[in-house]
Amino acid sequence: MKIKILFQPRGKWVTARSGDNLLQTALKNRIPIRHRCGGNGSCTTCKVMILSKDALISDPSTSEIRLVGEEALCSGYRLACQTRIYGNTEVSIPEEKWKAVVKEKIQQQGGNHEKKENEKD
Ligand code: FES
Repeated sequence: MKIKILFQPRGKWVTARSGDNLLQTALKNRIPIRHRCGGNGSCTTCKVMILSKDALISDPSTSEIRLVGEEALCSGYRLACQTRIYGNTEVSIPEEKWKAVVKEKIQQQGGNHEKKENEKD
């Protein structure tokens, strides 16, 4: 079954299959979410907020509860790499995470630019 996920703050809708992993869906649709541990559920850099109050999503695992904390989970925070989506959902990527991703991209491009400049010598 196809579902739709709205990623904020960009306001980008993507289509996924019921049961798809949230992090993988985002990355597949070129929505950058940091994932330092590679999606192993150990770094928390992929933390996002589920905005839909009645979202059909997987329950947090014991390790996710320990990492994120019950209070944050109750506020809607989840680890994207540990979350499966089963229905239409709105998700917000915290602004500071957007800034970190943009900063990393700029640094990568700057690094590549410097490398290309050095290759000319
Ligand atoms: S990518 Fe590290 S916890 Fe999700």
